[in-house]
Amino acid sequence: MFTATDFIPKKYTSTIENGNFEWSAPSNIALVKYWGKKDNQIPANPSVSFTLNNCKTITKLGFEKRDISPEVSGPLNVTSFSFDLLFEGKPKEDFKPKIQKFLERIEVYLPFLKNYHFTIDTQNTFPHSSGIASSASGMAALAMNFMSLERALNPEMTNEYFYRKASFLARLGSGSACRSVKGNVVVWGNQANIGGSSDLFGVEFPHTIHANFKNYQDTILLVDKGEKQVSSTVGHDLMHNHPYAERRFAQAHENLDKLTAIFESGNLDEFIKVVESEALTLHAMMMTSMPYFILMKPNTLQIINAIWKFRNETQIPVCFTLDAGANVHVLYPENVSDKVLQFIQDELVVFCQNGQYICDQIGEGAIAL
Ligand code: PMV
Repeated sequence: MFTATDFIPKKYTSTIENGNFEWSAPSNIALVKYWGKKDNQIPANPSVSFTLNNCKTITKLGFEKRDISPEVSGPLNVTSFSFDLLFEGKPKEDFKPKIQKFLERIEVYLPFLKNYHFTIDTQNTFPHSSGIASSASGMAALAMNFMSLERALNPEMTNEYFYRKASFLARLGSGSACRSVKGNVVVWGNQANIGGSSDLFGVEFPHTIHANFKNYQDTILLVDKGEKQVSSTVGHDLMHNHPYAERRFAQAHENLDKLTAIFESGNLDEFIKVVESEALTLHAMMMTSMPYFILMKPNTLQIINAIWKFRNETQIPVCFTLDAGANVHVLYPENVSDKVLQFIQDELVVFCQNGQYICDQIGEGAIAL
């Protein structure tokens, strides 16, 4: 079993003065949801997600060794991080506090961070303020870059350690980000029947996955692109002292066991039951928090009802899931793509803000550019 101290490095064997790395990391969509956490971003229950392919963050990390000898820069600089943040090529001051906090959290695991000045240049492939959270892809892309720098300082590092620690660091930026490092299907959180699973990082789903799930499609319907009224941080927090929390956490384990069998059998009817129930349970937890809140919008319900009607009439195995917002992820196998896309255009686009939706599918995880 891994513990956080396994990620505190010993002495580095190499040095590097300056350079840059660039990584892309995708977003992911949870099937069994993470909602509720303990200290240090430890999840209250395990979750599993499809890694996406098209919705990603691309981040370039420039780094340059700082002259931190006391006679040159004074003692103050050594105690602070030094970085510039660019979003789509332009300085973005309001993103800096989140990065600052991330650096503070990961410094013990990357003790070289204060020795460099960083230029973090980041952009998303999906439209800005589309209501699609960029924290998962963003934190994962940044974690990959920092790991590239650590590997330059320690060239003996194994690939396994590289990806595991990247996921571990991403988790400290944003919990679900740890599921954006690796591909296809990723589990995060200890689960008895999933060997290697950990609360500390995401792992590739280790068992057989039926061909029905190959290139599984996710069309994201943008129902509401505004700022969320309640952040995920606040939502997670409301699971403390929540009247249904313990039962919900147990249910997540049960649903992950069910999905494990479903991934193997390829039974799409059972897949739909677990996935839609998870989505509605997530939102039920929000509605039964104190204070309570609702993130779904009237059009979210319109879409859900239209999907149920279409599925009933056609027997096409299309279903929905939701993240912590009003947007709807429409999930379906590749071989029914044409029919489902036609249905989306004919009947669901009217419920999307400005008619916007994004076609995505299962993908491979972070990529070095
Ligand atoms: O990673 P966070 O703290 O933004 O939480 C994400 C929570 C959900 O998206 C609602 C569920 C999940 O497992 O991704």
